[in-house]
Amino acid sequence: MTRLGSDEAVLRRRLREWYTGHRRSLPWRETSDPYAIWVSEILLQQTRVATVIERYGEFLERFPTVCALAEATEAEVLTAWSGLGYYRRARMLHRAAREVCARHGGVVPGSAAALRELPGIGRYTAAAIASIAFGEAVAAVDGNVERVVLRLAGAGLSTASEVGRRAQAEADRLLDCAAPGEWNQAMMELGATVCLPRGPRCEACPWVEVCRTRGEHPVRKRAAMRAEALSLAWVVRRRPTREPVERVWLVQRDERESVMPLMWELPETDGASGEPVLRLRHAIMQVNYEVAIFAVEATAMARRSRQRREQWVTAEEAGRMPLTGLTRKVMQRLGWLPAGGGRRAKPDGVPR
Ligand code: ADE
Repeated sequence: MTRLGSDEAVLRRRLREWYTGHRRSLPWRETSDPYAIWVSEILLQQTRVATVIERYGEFLERFPTVCALAEATEAEVLTAWSGLGYYRRARMLHRAAREVCARHGGVVPGSAAALRELPGIGRYTAAAIASIAFGEAVAAVDGNVERVVLRLAGAGLSTASEVGRRAQAEADRLLDCAAPGEWNQAMMELGATVCLPRGPRCEACPWVEVCRTRGEHPVRKRAAMRAEALSLAWVVRRRPTREPVERVWLVQRDERESVMPLMWELPETDGASGEPVLRLRHAIMQVNYEVAIFAVEATAMARRSRQRREQWVTAEEAGRMPLTGLTRKVMQRLGWLPAGGGRRAKPDGVPR
């Protein structure tokens, strides 16, 4: 008997059998290319699997190799990432790709320890890539796996560091060293589809008989969302004789912004009156924005701030710029951009 109260070999066999019958067919499970696996792991951080499925192939088509990604400009990478949020991930991935090409001859490092030296790769991501792409025997503990092992072990813990340490220790002990990549993905799959945070499906769990808690283990609370109102200006210019195309006014976020630096967006407006041309909801991290978009006369635009760049852009140009997810959504709803398409940046992301 182990601390888990059951023979680990039996636990492993049960989960392996369950996974064989229940594994979802996901595009990153059909490749052995370490770069493609790395991209999937970065995309999967903070993004739903369904969204990653939609965007994964497109990203790899745009940047098929680590050196293709390294050679791209940051604006091109951010444009490809547009709408996925958490843009720091994209910047770090890009920086890491440059390091792999400059220092490792374009070959993705083959161990978790070496992967952790790269920007944007922490303990979990390094373990996931190293085990899945290179077969290294390291346990990858993300939120799903943490929940599974702590529920299984019935661990009553208090501090976050205690939780993290215990979860890693349990996952290390359970790890199937003969097939660590498959094992880690089986653990993730169990957490994502059966051992759910709320309403765990214990009746479908291969470990139900040995589980110490049957889903009762407390789940970390998510930070509460707050609501905020946001008014944006939709300023369109059309000079029929000189320029028959319409242009819309966009501003670039400052490079010192902590979120979405250097990305392009619609300007905020405070003095808008009348009915908005569009209302929508948009969530960014812990904030639910109630967004109203007001048509504003070009002549009424506020004086330019020296700190940011501003541009009149056509719909075609906008489609190739790194727009914030909210601005892309607004432009799609107003028929300026096709839904889901047109993500290519010009070299510096600035229309000329
Ligand atoms: N989440 C993170 N990595 C994953 C993977 N390889 N498969 C499914 N979900 C995941």
